[in-house]
Amino acid sequence: MSINIRALAARCIYAVVDQGRSLADELPKQQERVEGKDKGLLQEICYGVLRYLPELENDVRGLMKKPLTGKQRVFHFLILVGVYQIKYTRIPDHAAVSETVAATAQLKNKHLKGLINGVLRNYQRSYQGNSQAEQEADSTAKPLPDAIKFNHPSWFIKKVQATYPEQWQNILLANQEKPPMWIRVNQQHHCISDYQQLLDEAEISYQYIEPSSGAIALSQAVDVNKLPGFGAGWVSIQDGAAQQAARLLDAQQGDRVLDCCAAPGGKTCHILEYTPDLAEVTAIDIEESRLVRVKENLERLNLDAIVLAGDAAKSDTWWDNQLFDRILLDAPCSGTGVIRRHPDIKWLRKATDIDTLLVLQQQILKNIWSLLKPGGTLLYATCSILPEENSEQIKDFIANNADAELISMPEDESSVGWQLLPHVNQQDKPSMDGFYYAKLTKAK
Ligand SMILES: C[S@@+](CC[C@H](N)C(=O)[O-])C[C@H]1O[C@@H](n2cnc3c(N)ncnc32)[C@H](O)[C@@H]1O
Repeated sequence: MSINIRALAARCIYAVVDQGRSLADELPKQQERVEGKDKGLLQEICYGVLRYLPELENDVRGLMKKPLTGKQRVFHFLILVGVYQIKYTRIPDHAAVSETVAATAQLKNKHLKGLINGVLRNYQRSYQGNSQAEQEADSTAKPLPDAIKFNHPSWFIKKVQATYPEQWQNILLANQEKPPMWIRVNQQHHCISDYQQLLDEAEISYQYIEPSSGAIALSQAVDVNKLPGFGAGWVSIQDGAAQQAARLLDAQQGDRVLDCCAAPGGKTCHILEYTPDLAEVTAIDIEESRLVRVKENLERLNLDAIVLAGDAAKSDTWWDNQLFDRILLDAPCSGTGVIRRHPDIKWLRKATDIDTLLVLQQQILKNIWSLLKPGGTLLYATCSILPEENSEQIKDFIANNADAELISMPEDESSVGWQLLPHVNQQDKPSMDGFYYAKLTKAK
């Protein structure tokens, strides 16, 4: 019996939503069990269901007498897998339903076959007879709660509404979109225009080149191995927002640089590509297992860094007592700027996590400030859109550290730091992730 992709998808979504595991950990485990194109389909289904979870649950609520609970929860997600395919993919409905129903055998509960078949066929009939546009246009229908309409948890919607009263809907809608694939050209190998030519020759089309960093947004995602020279380290995958870090850090020839939350190493490598004649770069991360990716990236790009497992909040076990000229702190954060790339964040992150993260960010900031040379520069970065992790965190830090001075950024001179939001910062250009940067210098 061949492996049923819908069964794998239901298991993966169950592991994320009910067991709190990360999609980045779970999906590759399930993808290992299938070949080629099926890996892509599995990814599409898992991402899609996690993007539209509240809406899909709302769609099936009226079609079942009672929800599937306990040991049957994986079948609850299997139904959502079926509904997602009917509603959002080009898979013919009959194939979506029959493949999803067939998954019950692999999930070892043939008794639920009839129920799942019935629910999906009812959904298919009601969906065909009453399209989404018609449902939305129906003025008698009760308005959907925001959590269902925007497919985000209520606590997060309230926070975004309060912070961005004009833009909150655009931000939530941008989080639902499939992000563009951005590439970073290793300018040690090719200048941007030469790499453009290689893309043209490979018939890979791109829609935009961001002027300040040279980040290139492709017109559509491609297999990395099709990118000219990917294996040889000519190019990497990195969002346009993350590609601002090396430029803003602005390390100089001969500098000692610390990247203190480094895994998987995207920014460490970019710093080394951007300023090849640094004295040294030390990349640390608290999760030793994640440092494997840092080493792989360095190796592919033929770059050198000192890679150490360590806690950035306590440097006694890893620091060599020599101060750094530049420090990048890409802090552990809520990840609320990268929901479009990691839709599981919506269901894994809880409102109470934010306070814990704020304390951790403060502890790391306090400790690494003491490792910075007088006159040195610290670049604080997060992939969060919440001001408490960003501008407020930096304002507090400056208020409590007389030797810390904010360097204003031309990108956003009137604010404390530079807040990029998914979608809205870029207007009609391809969107970047939500990100935050603040640059501090230490008094001499
Ligand atoms: C936003 S990610 C870093 C991404 C990385 N800079 C890049 O560009 O590829 C945050 C990292 O901080 C690490 N981290 C969390 N707490 C830490 C701590 N106390 N000390 C060092 N690293 C920590 C996490 O393991 C995670 O890899």
